[in-house]
Amino acid sequence: QAAEKEGYEHFMIKEIHEQPKGVSETLLRRLDKEDHIVLDGIKLTKEDLDKINKIYIVACGTAYHAGLVGRYAIEKFAKIPVEVDVASEFRYRDPFVDENTLFIAISQSGETLDTLAALREAKRKGARILSIVNVVGSSVARESDDVFYTWAGPEIAVASTKAYTTQLVAMYLVALHMAMTKGTLSQEEYKKIMAELKSMPEKVQRVLNNCDTIQHLADHQFNNESVFYMGRGVDVNVAHEGSLKLKEISYINSFAIAAGELKHGTIALIEDGTLVVALATQDKLYDKMLSNIQEVRARGAYVVGVAKEGNKEIEKTADVVLYIPDTMDELTPILSVIPLQLLAYYIAVARGCDVDKPKNLAKSVTVE
Ligand code: G6P
Repeated sequence: QAAEKEGYEHFMIKEIHEQPKGVSETLLRRLDKEDHIVLDGIKLTKEDLDKINKIYIVACGTAYHAGLVGRYAIEKFAKIPVEVDVASEFRYRDPFVDENTLFIAISQSGETLDTLAALREAKRKGARILSIVNVVGSSVARESDDVFYTWAGPEIAVASTKAYTTQLVAMYLVALHMAMTKGTLSQEEYKKIMAELKSMPEKVQRVLNNCDTIQHLADHQFNNESVFYMGRGVDVNVAHEGSLKLKEISYINSFAIAAGELKHGTIALIEDGTLVVALATQDKLYDKMLSNIQEVRARGAYVVGVAKEGNKEIEKTADVVLYIPDTMDELTPILSVIPLQLLAYYIAVARGCDVDKPKNLAKSVTVE
Protein backbone atom coordinates (compact mmCIF):
# COMPACT_ATOMS: atom_id res chain seq x y z
CA GLN A 1 0.00 0.00 0.00
CA ALA A 2 2.96 2.35 0.65
CA ALA A 3 3.61 2.56 -3.10
CA GLU A 4 0.04 3.63 -3.74
CA LYS A 5 0.52 6.62 -1.46
CA GLU A 6 2.78 8.06 -4.16
CA GLY A 7 5.07 9.78 -1.69
CA TYR A 8 2.32 11.16 0.55
CA GLU A 9 2.42 10.26 4.24
CA HIS A 10 -1.21 9.16 4.31
CA PHE A 11 -3.96 8.24 1.88
CA MET A 12 -6.08 11.03 3.27
CA ILE A 13 -3.68 13.81 2.26
CA LYS A 14 -3.11 12.14 -1.11
CA GLU A 15 -6.87 12.06 -1.66
CA ILE A 16 -7.25 15.67 -0.56
CA HIS A 17 -4.72 16.60 -3.26
CA GLU A 18 -6.54 14.52 -5.86
CA GLN A 19 -9.60 16.75 -5.64
CA PRO A 20 -8.86 19.05 -8.60
CA LYS A 21 -8.76 15.90 -10.76
CA GLY A 22 -11.88 14.34 -9.22
CA VAL A 23 -13.86 17.55 -9.58
CA SER A 24 -12.69 18.01 -13.15
CA GLU A 25 -13.45 14.40 -14.19
CA THR A 26 -16.90 14.39 -12.56
CA LEU A 27 -17.74 17.62 -14.33
CA LEU A 28 -16.18 17.33 -17.76
CA ARG A 29 -17.36 13.78 -18.39
CA ARG A 30 -20.91 15.14 -18.17
CA LEU A 31 -20.55 18.10 -20.54
CA ASP A 32 -20.70 18.17 -24.31
CA LYS A 33 -18.81 20.62 -26.55
CA GLU A 34 -21.38 23.35 -25.93
CA ASP A 35 -21.28 22.79 -22.15
CA HIS A 36 -24.71 21.17 -22.08
CA ILE A 37 -25.13 18.58 -19.34
CA VAL A 38 -25.30 15.06 -20.71
CA LEU A 39 -26.61 12.57 -18.18
CA ASP A 40 -26.28 9.33 -20.16
CA GLY A 41 -28.71 6.76 -18.93
CA ILE A 42 -30.56 9.17 -16.66
CA LYS A 43 -33.95 9.82 -18.09
CA LEU A 44 -35.55 12.70 -16.26
CA THR A 45 -37.71 14.31 -18.93
CA LYS A 46 -39.77 17.45 -18.47
CA GLU A 47 -42.80 15.22 -18.11
CA ASP A 48 -41.10 13.18 -15.36
CA LEU A 49 -39.99 16.31 -13.52
CA ASP A 50 -43.43 17.93 -13.74
CA LYS A 51 -44.81 14.85 -12.02
CA ILE A 52 -42.31 15.01 -9.16
CA ASN A 53 -43.64 17.12 -6.32
CA LYS A 54 -41.05 16.20 -3.73
CA ILE A 55 -37.46 15.04 -3.55
CA TYR A 56 -35.85 13.15 -0.68
CA ILE A 57 -32.08 13.07 -0.47
CA VAL A 58 -30.97 10.30 1.85
CA ALA A 59 -27.46 9.28 2.91
CA CYS A 60 -25.10 8.77 5.87
CA GLY A 61 -22.05 10.61 7.18
CA THR A 62 -20.19 12.77 4.71
CA ALA A 63 -22.56 11.81 1.88
CA TYR A 64 -25.41 13.21 3.99
CA HIS A 65 -23.53 16.50 4.23
CA ALA A 66 -23.23 16.54 0.43
CA GLY A 67 -27.00 16.01 0.38
CA LEU A 68 -27.52 19.14 2.47
CA VAL A 69 -25.76 21.17 -0.21
CA GLY A 70 -27.77 19.26 -2.81
CA ARG A 71 -31.02 20.47 -1.26
CA TYR A 72 -29.77 24.02 -1.40
CA ALA A 73 -28.82 23.68 -5.09
CA ILE A 74 -32.03 21.93 -6.21
CA GLU A 75 -34.33 24.33 -4.36
CA LYS A 76 -32.39 27.33 -5.61
CA PHE A 77 -31.98 26.33 -9.25
CA ALA A 78 -34.84 23.90 -9.98
CA LYS A 79 -37.42 25.16 -7.46
CA ILE A 80 -38.51 21.69 -6.29
CA PRO A 81 -39.04 21.11 -2.54
CA VAL A 82 -36.38 18.85 -1.07
CA GLU A 83 -36.03 17.04 2.25
CA VAL A 84 -32.71 15.62 3.38
CA ASP A 85 -32.53 12.81 5.88
CA VAL A 86 -29.99 10.46 7.38
CA ALA A 87 -30.78 6.98 6.14
CA SER A 88 -31.09 5.43 9.60
CA GLU A 89 -33.88 7.90 10.42
CA PHE A 90 -35.63 7.86 7.06
CA ARG A 91 -36.14 4.11 7.07
CA TYR A 92 -37.98 4.07 10.39
CA ARG A 93 -40.08 7.20 10.32
CA ASP A 94 -42.66 6.22 7.74
CA PRO A 95 -41.88 9.15 5.43
CA PHE A 96 -44.44 10.47 2.99
CA VAL A 97 -43.28 8.84 -0.23
CA ASP A 98 -45.30 7.91 -3.30
CA GLU A 99 -44.91 7.58 -7.07
CA ASN A 100 -44.52 11.36 -7.37
CA THR A 101 -41.43 11.30 -5.16
CA LEU A 102 -37.87 11.30 -6.43
CA PHE A 103 -35.53 9.60 -3.98
CA ILE A 104 -31.85 10.50 -4.32
CA ALA A 105 -29.38 8.24 -2.51
CA ILE A 106 -25.81 9.44 -2.11
CA SER A 107 -23.12 6.94 -1.22
CA GLN A 108 -19.40 6.70 -1.91
CA SER A 109 -19.24 2.92 -1.44
CA GLY A 110 -22.77 2.13 -2.54
CA GLU A 111 -22.80 -0.52 0.20
CA THR A 112 -23.90 1.37 3.32
CA LEU A 113 -26.63 -0.79 4.81
CA ASP A 114 -28.86 1.99 6.11
CA THR A 115 -28.76 3.84 2.78
CA LEU A 116 -29.59 0.66 0.90
CA ALA A 117 -32.47 -0.16 3.27
CA ALA A 118 -33.86 3.38 2.94
CA LEU A 119 -33.64 3.09 -0.86
CA ARG A 120 -35.58 -0.21 -0.77
CA GLU A 121 -38.22 1.34 1.47
CA ALA A 122 -38.67 4.30 -0.91
CA LYS A 123 -38.82 1.96 -3.90
CA ARG A 124 -41.46 -0.19 -2.19
CA LYS A 125 -43.58 2.93 -1.82
CA GLY A 126 -43.28 3.70 -5.51
CA ALA A 127 -40.58 6.41 -5.60
CA ARG A 128 -38.24 6.77 -8.51
CA ILE A 129 -34.63 6.15 -7.42
CA LEU A 130 -31.64 8.16 -8.55
CA SER A 131 -28.32 7.43 -6.91
CA ILE A 132 -25.04 9.30 -6.78
CA VAL A 133 -22.40 6.65 -6.23
CA ASN A 134 -18.64 6.35 -6.55
CA VAL A 135 -18.16 2.57 -6.72
CA VAL A 136 -19.31 1.20 -10.05
CA GLY A 137 -21.69 -1.73 -9.86
CA SER A 138 -22.21 -1.43 -6.09
CA SER A 139 -25.50 -2.47 -4.45
CA VAL A 140 -26.98 1.04 -4.33
CA ALA A 141 -26.13 1.56 -8.00
CA ARG A 142 -27.60 -1.79 -9.02
CA GLU A 143 -30.90 -1.20 -7.25
CA SER A 144 -31.45 2.34 -8.58
CA ASP A 145 -33.47 3.42 -11.62
CA ASP A 146 -30.81 5.97 -12.58
CA VAL A 147 -27.18 6.26 -11.51
CA PHE A 148 -24.87 9.24 -11.59
CA TYR A 149 -21.32 8.02 -11.01
CA THR A 150 -18.86 10.36 -9.39
CA TRP A 151 -15.33 10.14 -10.72
CA ALA A 152 -13.39 10.43 -7.48
CA GLY A 153 -11.43 7.21 -8.12
CA PRO A 154 -10.87 4.74 -5.27
CA GLU A 155 -11.05 6.36 -1.83
CA ILE A 156 -8.99 4.47 0.76
CA ALA A 157 -8.83 6.76 3.81
CA VAL A 158 -11.75 6.24 6.18
CA ALA A 159 -12.41 9.99 6.35
CA SER A 160 -14.04 10.93 3.07
CA THR A 161 -12.64 13.93 1.16
CA LYS A 162 -12.57 13.59 -2.62
CA ALA A 163 -15.82 11.63 -2.60
CA TYR A 164 -17.49 14.63 -0.94
CA THR A 165 -16.32 17.24 -3.45
CA THR A 166 -17.27 15.03 -6.38
CA GLN A 167 -20.69 14.40 -4.78
CA LEU A 168 -21.12 18.18 -4.63
CA VAL A 169 -20.33 18.49 -8.33
CA ALA A 170 -22.81 15.70 -9.09
CA MET A 171 -25.50 17.44 -7.04
CA TYR A 172 -24.91 20.75 -8.82
CA LEU A 173 -25.14 19.04 -12.21
CA VAL A 174 -28.35 17.22 -11.28
CA ALA A 175 -29.83 20.48 -9.98
CA LEU A 176 -28.82 22.41 -13.11
CA HIS A 177 -30.08 19.65 -15.38
CA MET A 178 -33.45 19.73 -13.60
CA ALA A 179 -33.54 23.51 -13.77
CA MET A 180 -32.85 23.62 -17.50
CA THR A 181 -35.36 20.83 -18.21
CA LYS A 182 -38.04 22.59 -16.17
CA GLY A 183 -37.10 26.03 -17.47
CA THR A 184 -36.48 27.60 -14.06
CA LEU A 185 -33.09 29.06 -15.08
CA SER A 186 -32.32 31.28 -18.06
CA GLN A 187 -29.59 30.38 -20.57
CA GLU A 188 -27.63 33.34 -19.33
CA GLU A 189 -27.77 32.25 -15.68
CA TYR A 190 -26.87 28.70 -16.71
CA LYS A 191 -23.82 29.87 -18.66
CA LYS A 192 -22.61 31.94 -15.72
CA ILE A 193 -22.93 29.06 -13.26
CA MET A 194 -21.34 26.62 -15.70
CA ALA A 195 -18.37 28.90 -16.31
CA GLU A 196 -17.86 29.08 -12.56
CA LEU A 197 -18.17 25.32 -12.14
CA LYS A 198 -15.56 24.83 -14.84
CA SER A 199 -13.15 27.08 -12.96
CA MET A 200 -13.44 24.92 -9.82
CA PRO A 201 -10.57 22.47 -10.43
CA GLU A 202 -8.13 25.35 -10.79
CA LYS A 203 -9.58 27.17 -7.77
CA VAL A 204 -9.45 24.03 -5.61
CA GLN A 205 -5.79 23.75 -6.61
CA ARG A 206 -5.19 27.32 -5.47
CA VAL A 207 -6.59 26.51 -2.02
CA LEU A 208 -4.39 23.41 -1.86
CA ASN A 209 -1.34 25.49 -2.69
CA ASN A 210 -1.92 27.24 0.63
CA CYS A 211 -1.60 24.10 2.74
CA ASP A 212 1.57 25.28 4.54
CA THR A 213 -0.38 28.10 6.24
CA ILE A 214 -2.95 25.60 7.45
CA GLN A 215 -0.30 23.17 8.67
CA HIS A 216 1.31 26.01 10.61
CA LEU A 217 -2.06 26.90 12.15
CA ALA A 218 -2.69 23.26 13.10
CA ASP A 219 0.73 23.02 14.76
CA HIS A 220 -0.43 25.75 17.16
CA GLN A 221 -4.02 24.65 17.62
CA PHE A 222 -3.89 20.86 18.00
CA ASN A 223 -4.34 20.78 21.76
CA ASN A 224 -7.94 21.95 21.97
CA GLU A 225 -10.45 19.78 23.77
CA SER A 226 -13.37 21.14 21.81
CA VAL A 227 -13.80 23.04 18.57
CA PHE A 228 -16.89 24.77 17.22
CA TYR A 229 -17.73 25.36 13.59
CA MET A 230 -20.31 27.90 12.54
CA GLY A 231 -21.72 29.49 9.42
CA ARG A 232 -24.87 30.78 7.79
CA GLY A 233 -26.68 29.74 4.63
CA VAL A 234 -24.87 27.04 2.68
CA ASP A 235 -21.83 27.58 4.93
CA VAL A 236 -23.60 25.74 7.77
CA ASN A 237 -23.61 22.59 5.65
CA VAL A 238 -19.86 22.86 5.12
CA ALA A 239 -19.38 23.60 8.83
CA HIS A 240 -20.99 20.22 9.56
CA GLU A 241 -18.61 18.45 7.21
CA GLY A 242 -15.55 20.27 8.63
CA SER A 243 -16.59 19.32 12.14
CA LEU A 244 -17.13 15.67 11.18
CA LYS A 245 -13.67 15.52 9.58
CA LEU A 246 -12.04 16.82 12.73
CA LYS A 247 -13.82 14.48 15.16
CA GLU A 248 -13.36 11.42 12.95
CA ILE A 249 -9.60 11.59 12.79
CA SER A 250 -8.40 13.70 15.73
CA TYR A 251 -10.90 12.60 18.42
CA ILE A 252 -11.51 16.22 19.38
CA ASN A 253 -15.03 16.96 20.56
CA SER A 254 -16.28 19.15 17.76
CA PHE A 255 -19.65 20.26 16.52
CA ALA A 256 -21.22 22.66 14.08
CA ILE A 257 -24.02 25.18 14.45
CA ALA A 258 -25.90 27.73 12.42
CA ALA A 259 -24.28 30.95 13.64
CA GLY A 260 -27.70 32.48 14.29
CA GLU A 261 -28.25 29.77 16.92
CA LEU A 262 -25.16 30.79 18.88
CA LYS A 263 -27.15 32.80 21.38
CA HIS A 264 -29.51 29.89 22.00
CA GLY A 265 -26.96 27.77 23.80
CA THR A 266 -23.50 27.33 22.36
CA ILE A 267 -22.20 30.74 23.38
CA ALA A 268 -22.36 29.50 26.98
CA LEU A 269 -19.49 27.13 26.14
CA ILE A 270 -17.14 29.73 24.69
CA GLU A 271 -14.24 30.59 26.96
CA ASP A 272 -10.70 31.85 26.74
CA GLY A 273 -8.89 30.13 23.90
CA THR A 274 -11.84 28.07 22.55
CA LEU A 275 -11.20 27.42 18.88
CA VAL A 276 -14.03 28.57 16.64
CA VAL A 277 -13.95 28.03 12.89
CA ALA A 278 -16.24 30.62 11.31
CA LEU A 279 -17.26 30.31 7.68
CA ALA A 280 -18.13 33.68 6.18
CA THR A 281 -18.17 33.04 2.45
CA GLN A 282 -21.74 34.19 1.71
CA ASP A 283 -21.85 37.77 0.47
CA LYS A 284 -25.35 38.45 1.64
CA LEU A 285 -24.67 37.04 5.11
CA TYR A 286 -21.17 38.42 5.54
CA ASP A 287 -22.02 41.25 7.95
CA LYS A 288 -24.13 38.94 10.09
CA MET A 289 -21.21 36.53 10.34
CA LEU A 290 -18.84 39.32 11.34
CA SER A 291 -21.18 40.12 14.26
CA ASN A 292 -21.23 36.45 15.28
CA ILE A 293 -17.44 36.38 15.18
CA GLN A 294 -17.35 39.46 17.38
CA GLU A 295 -19.68 37.77 19.86
CA VAL A 296 -17.40 34.76 20.33
CA ARG A 297 -14.22 36.84 20.26
CA ALA A 298 -15.61 39.01 23.06
CA ARG A 299 -15.79 35.82 25.16
CA GLY A 300 -12.20 34.88 24.45
CA ALA A 301 -12.54 32.55 21.43
CA TYR A 302 -9.67 32.12 19.01
CA VAL A 303 -11.35 32.51 15.63
CA VAL A 304 -10.25 31.01 12.35
CA GLY A 305 -12.30 32.68 9.63
CA VAL A 306 -12.92 31.31 6.15
CA ALA A 307 -13.76 33.98 3.58
CA LYS A 308 -13.56 34.86 -0.08
CA GLU A 309 -10.45 36.64 -1.29
CA GLY A 310 -11.09 40.34 -1.30
CA ASN A 311 -13.47 40.28 1.68
CA LYS A 312 -10.81 41.62 4.01
CA GLU A 313 -13.07 43.18 6.62
CA ILE A 314 -13.01 39.88 8.50
CA GLU A 315 -9.34 40.42 9.35
CA LYS A 316 -10.45 43.00 11.90
CA THR A 317 -12.42 40.43 13.89
CA ALA A 318 -10.95 36.96 13.25
CA ASP A 319 -7.52 35.91 14.57
CA VAL A 320 -6.57 34.10 11.37
CA VAL A 321 -8.30 34.11 7.98
CA LEU A 322 -8.12 31.31 5.43
CA TYR A 323 -9.09 32.65 2.03
CA ILE A 324 -10.77 30.85 -0.84
CA PRO A 325 -10.84 32.22 -4.41
CA ASP A 326 -13.81 34.38 -5.27
CA THR A 327 -16.83 32.57 -6.69
CA MET A 328 -20.63 32.78 -6.64
CA ASP A 329 -22.19 32.14 -3.22
CA GLU A 330 -23.98 28.99 -4.41
CA LEU A 331 -20.75 27.19 -5.31
CA THR A 332 -18.49 28.03 -2.35
CA PRO A 333 -18.82 24.60 -0.65
CA ILE A 334 -16.49 23.01 -3.23
CA LEU A 335 -13.80 25.45 -2.13
CA SER A 336 -14.51 26.17 1.53
CA VAL A 337 -14.40 22.52 2.57
CA ILE A 338 -10.76 22.21 1.43
CA PRO A 339 -9.17 24.32 4.23
CA LEU A 340 -11.36 22.44 6.73
CA GLN A 341 -10.17 19.06 5.45
CA LEU A 342 -6.56 20.24 5.64
CA LEU A 343 -7.04 21.66 9.13
CA ALA A 344 -8.53 18.38 10.39
CA TYR A 345 -5.74 16.41 8.74
CA TYR A 346 -2.86 18.47 10.10
CA ILE A 347 -4.38 18.66 13.60
CA ALA A 348 -4.76 14.86 13.64
CA VAL A 349 -1.17 14.41 12.45
CA ALA A 350 0.08 16.84 15.12
CA ARG A 351 -1.79 14.77 17.73
CA GLY A 352 -0.13 11.59 16.47
CA CYS A 353 -3.38 9.96 15.35
CA ASP A 354 -3.71 7.09 12.90
CA VAL A 355 -5.23 9.33 10.25
CA ASP A 356 -6.15 6.72 7.65
CA LYS A 357 -7.62 4.23 10.11
CA PRO A 358 -9.27 6.08 12.97
CA LYS A 359 -10.35 3.97 15.92
CA ASN A 360 -13.88 2.52 15.92
CA LEU A 361 -14.64 3.69 12.37
CA ALA A 362 -15.06 1.74 9.14
CA LYS A 363 -14.84 2.93 5.54
CA SER A 364 -18.14 1.35 4.74
CA VAL A 365 -20.76 0.45 7.34
CA THR A 366 -22.49 -2.67 6.09
CA VAL A 367 -24.20 -3.53 9.38
CA GLU A 368 -26.94 -1.66 11.20
C1 G6P B 1 -18.76 5.70 7.03
C2 G6P B 1 -17.50 6.38 6.53
C3 G6P B 1 -17.82 7.81 6.11
C4 G6P B 1 -18.93 7.83 5.08
C5 G6P B 1 -20.15 7.09 5.56
C6 G6P B 1 -21.15 6.86 4.44
O1 G6P B 1 -19.17 6.31 8.21
O2 G6P B 1 -16.52 6.37 7.54
O3 G6P B 1 -16.65 8.41 5.56
O4 G6P B 1 -19.26 9.16 4.77
O5 G6P B 1 -19.81 5.79 6.04
O6 G6P B 1 -20.56 6.02 3.49
P1 G6P B 1 -21.00 5.92 1.99
O7 G6P B 1 -20.09 4.89 1.39
O8 G6P B 1 -22.43 5.47 1.99
O9 G6P B 1 -20.84 7.25 1.39
